[in-house]
Amino acid sequence: MKLIKVSGEEELSRMAAEYVFSKIKNADRVVLGLATGRTPLGMYRHLSKYSKEYKLSLSHVHTVNLDEYVGSKAYHAYMHQNVFDPIGIPNHQTHIPDGYAVDLEKECMRYEAVIQQLGGIDLQVLGIGENGHIGFNEPGTDFSSRTHVVELTESTLSANAKYFTREKQPRKAITMGIGTILESKEILLLAAGLKKAHAVRELFKGSLNENIPATVLNHHPNVTVIADRGARSLLEEES
Ligand code: PGA
Repeated sequence: MKLIKVSGEEELSRMAAEYVFSKIKNADRVVLGLATGRTPLGMYRHLSKYSKEYKLSLSHVHTVNLDEYVGSKAYHAYMHQNVFDPIGIPNHQTHIPDGYAVDLEKECMRYEAVIQQLGGIDLQVLGIGENGHIGFNEPGTDFSSRTHVVELTESTLSANAKYFTREKQPRKAITMGIGTILESKEILLLAAGLKKAHAVRELFKGSLNENIPATVLNHHPNVTVIADRGARSLLEEES
């Protein structure tokens, strides 16, 4: 696992955007796995700037998101507002689980099939939860899991409560499974702030721990972590 050390969120956002942009620029066709949340927001802002500066057509970019709340379009709204519209990725090439699907099990299977039909994910961008989750794969999730419905933990609900001022926060979500994420050819994980320090320290211990889902990335051959000073604080205290 490669670690890129940055000082703060601004540098993290710029480095992450450069990383993703070079993938986009150098490929004839690319499937990006994308994350929501606070951490990648700055990266998306930079990507939007680069795509305008370089006047790059993004007709070769396909995206699949990690997750969506059940009975909500919160992450659809986030992606349109922060990513698809400003960056200019054609709508029909973007994919997010449908949290309003009548049959959620069927929706999970459909989503797996979408990823397969795209030929898999070339680069998956991940955040990391305070509890070590990736996507909405909460502690204890089977490492071989596929896209499934999850009951969110109190830690995740409280970390994300700020996004639900107008609608009631759903307690369930659809998430890509850990097995699904692990099949991505390359993974870029972004970690910012002191609240992530515990999860980051566990990640770099190198051993697998189902209670810290991100540790599964120690099993993947091509992972880069960009972490700011806060997120590295416990890691560096020990070394
Ligand atoms: P955050 O979320 O970027 O809002 O901290 C990360 C995550 O929960 O995966």
